[in-house]
Amino acid sequence: MDGKGKERHADDLFKEFKETSITEFFRKNKTHLGYSGSIRSLTTVIHEMVTNSLDACEEAGIQPDISVAIKKLGNDHYLIRSEDNGPGIPIRHISGVFGKMLAGTKFHRNIQLRGQQGIGVAGVTLFSQITTGKPIKIKTSTGKGKVNEIALMIDIAKNKADILSNNEYSQYWRGTEIECELKGVNFTLREQGPFEYLRRTAIANPHAKITFTDPEGRRTIFERSTEKVPKPPVEIKPHPKGTEVDDLVNMAKITDGRKVSSFLTSTFSRMSNAKVKEIQKIINEGDAPFDLNKSPKKLTWAECEQIINAIKEIKFLAPPTEGLQPIGEEQIRKAILNILDPEFEAILTRNPTAHSGGVPFQVEVAIAYGGQAGRNIGDGTKVEIMRFANRTPLLFDSGACAITKSVNSVEWKRYGIKDFDNSPTTILINVVSTYIPYTSAGKQSIADDEDIMKEIRMALMEVGRKYQIFYSRQKRDMEKEVRKQILMRYSTELAAGLANITGKKEEEILKKLNTLVLEKLKLEDELDTLEEDEEEEIEDDSGIKDPEEGMVSGAENGT
Ligand SMILES: Nc1ncnc2c1ncn2[C@@H]1O[C@H](COP(=O)(O)OP(=O)(O)OP(=O)(O)O)[C@@H](O)[C@H]1O
Ligand SMILES: [Mg+2]
Repeated sequence: MDGKGKERHADDLFKEFKETSITEFFRKNKTHLGYSGSIRSLTTVIHEMVTNSLDACEEAGIQPDISVAIKKLGNDHYLIRSEDNGPGIPIRHISGVFGKMLAGTKFHRNIQLRGQQGIGVAGVTLFSQITTGKPIKIKTSTGKGKVNEIALMIDIAKNKADILSNNEYSQYWRGTEIECELKGVNFTLREQGPFEYLRRTAIANPHAKITFTDPEGRRTIFERSTEKVPKPPVEIKPHPKGTEVDDLVNMAKITDGRKVSSFLTSTFSRMSNAKVKEIQKIINEGDAPFDLNKSPKKLTWAECEQIINAIKEIKFLAPPTEGLQPIGEEQIRKAILNILDPEFEAILTRNPTAHSGGVPFQVEVAIAYGGQAGRNIGDGTKVEIMRFANRTPLLFDSGACAITKSVNSVEWKRYGIKDFDNSPTTILINVVSTYIPYTSAGKQSIADDEDIMKEIRMALMEVGRKYQIFYSRQKRDMEKEVRKQILMRYSTELAAGLANITGKKEEEILKKLNTLVLEKLKLEDELDTLEEDEEEEIEDDSGIKDPEEGMVSGAENGT
């Protein structure tokens, strides 16, 4: 006892040992899903519904027509309805979609979609149920003549749906409608509220029509600005450089391939027979050689480790990127001119590249200055940073986000924006990828990935230089105007003096002098333009291209 009080036996302590379900975990830790604070919780619910509708429409090749309505029922009590014209949900999957966490059609695929975890909408069911005790209501149909209206809750301990009612009837209609009640939430028109969320969603998804009805009954329609439906996202096979030993062990277990060699070429992108031979050569030179013609099912952990180590030493082509879907320069320009009407704008889409060794991603940025750009804060303007990931607005956790950090790491003074934080500037950044490394399941900020931050910074520096050219041109134009006025004033005085001395007509002398002044200024203009062209050419030459671009080398990405 040693005077430390009564000790307890491990058997006694382990009486408390229990398993818990993932749903139970998120019930207790709902902030991980974005349910913290009354404003954020409401926006999160809408975000989960709308991202699912957009994903479903995109995969089905349907032009999205989405409506969201919020009705106030009490002090912090609201009714939310969302509707889409998407492909609908087959009846046998409704329980899995709305009543089970970690269930969905996306998390196991290398595909650019907004959802990736299989938690989102079950999180809505959970949040609605734990704040109101009420079920979520779903109406859905795949368009084959049967409609189902279902009310369900989650059996939290079992992480499965508890269907309370299912009303099936005949009707030709296609889509999904969701209705739920929430308590402890609040509607705001401010930047982090549903209106701004949907406005930004419309900017990044110009192919979607989005209708919003706010609690006052005001209806806003964000019309689509293009009839072009984005190509359905395509799956991109994993790149060898992004694979860990544990991934390979698991893939080898489930493959149908009979030989390790064919398993490797069919599982990974950029893995040709020649690359398999290179791997074999490195393995043969090692301490424990083995044949890549063996069955993948018989691969040991140590052998998988050897394969991964060999992959690190070999160069592979960068991952294929056909599956990435940026918003596009033309669409961003349209949106920016339409909403911000700026004095200057520059938009840039970088070439796709890879993060974490093998996950394809692409960055697009836009900068707008003047006009309605920036955030209006009563007596002044502040810089506005619009963050997007896979065309989904990120409104929260901005301080922790790689996008914000990248913007803040740029020395804007160098590009002529002196007081950047208080300038009328809007910066839009969209990162698209088959896998976005979010900082949490709430998916509101991107983790500090070096490759992603580097690409964002490069893009910002390029648009910064464009701004600088605009700024120096504007400054020069102003200086020229002042010089013109001074010269004109002198020529008036000079004309009067010369007329006196020579006895010639003052008006004619003045006319000639003014012509001289204008010719001189015109000559200067032409010289300036020449210089500017040269400057731009030099910039193109000195670009910021990575000499390794297009290749993923072992040294850089091996870890
Ligand atoms: N409106 C909808 N129309 C068609 N299918 C849908 C709709 N909403 C959800 N689904 C299906 O339900 C699944 C689960 O949705 P959920 O939001 O829980 O996860 P997710 O979108 O896959 O990933 P995340 O957790 O990142 O949102 C989706 O993968 C999709 O297959
Ligand atoms: Mg989702």
